[in-house]
Amino acid sequence: MVSQAYDRIADSYDEDWCGLYAESSRRAVAQIVAVLTDAADLHVADLAVGTGNTLDSLYHRLSLGTAAGFDVSTGMLGKAWEKLPRRAQLIHDSAANAGDYLTPASLDLVLCHFLLRYLEPQVVLPTAYALLKPGGHFSLVTTTQRSLMETYTGRFAKTEPLLGVRRQLAKGGNPLDHAQGMEMLERYGFEIVADHLYREVVTFRSFDDVRAWACESGWAVEIVDGRMSVRFAFLRVAFALAEIFMRPLYPVDATNEISIVLARKPC
Ligand SMILES: C[S@@+](CC[C@H](N)C(=O)[O-])C[C@H]1O[C@@H](n2cnc3c(N)ncnc32)[C@H](O)[C@@H]1O
Repeated sequence: MVSQAYDRIADSYDEDWCGLYAESSRRAVAQIVAVLTDAADLHVADLAVGTGNTLDSLYHRLSLGTAAGFDVSTGMLGKAWEKLPRRAQLIHDSAANAGDYLTPASLDLVLCHFLLRYLEPQVVLPTAYALLKPGGHFSLVTTTQRSLMETYTGRFAKTEPLLGVRRQLAKGGNPLDHAQGMEMLERYGFEIVADHLYREVVTFRSFDDVRAWACESGWAVEIVDGRMSVRFAFLRVAFALAEIFMRPLYPVDATNEISIVLARKPC
């Protein structure tokens, strides 16, 4: 289960090896603040609040009236609880059920950051659309299927059959690339306000770096194990084997590709 995987890594998630989550959040928040800086009393929902970092930064940058954060992991919600003001409403449920808690057409802003891997766009996008006021904004941050470009260029050829990264990346609701993500938003009725493709090359100097990235910061759940078809225990074994294959390759560069889009429900 995805919730159990995130419960396990909740304590180390914010260590955020190489700062990929923090930098994605910083860029998405910059897009949001650029258009909502003068708005007061904003009503906001984060569909996968995680440890609460993005909502926390919005509390510091914008005038929030109400804020609701959904997540299926109690461990992640516990971390968000430590950080966020008490008036933030934290809800232990799937974003698919957000409509059971919030009034239709009541929100100014909905965040959907790193959720499409676990919940299909066919569920997430209509749910967000229904909750937004006309003119309300939708912030999408998602890994693309073309992340870890080296699995396409062949640099991970030895480990690719073992971990099946490309196959796994293709499984969830993540768009193939940045352009396809925006097309998807438009298909569900959104207008694109701002878009940005965040590409970051990280260097794994040893397998300890891979472990920190994959297990402690949780990218294994995001990349390799979206549907938890492979259990964490098995992943440890897979990593141990991958370590043997990868040892001669270090240092290894990996290009992460994250699509960051601000969209709007038409007025
Ligand atoms: C990679 S983390 C992202 C957390 C946060 N949005 C961020 O950017 O740091 C993915 C989060 O999605 C949550 N999640 C997975 N499936 C979910 C669902 N159906 N509804 C709500 N949250 C879900 C996980 O528990 C985890 O906290």
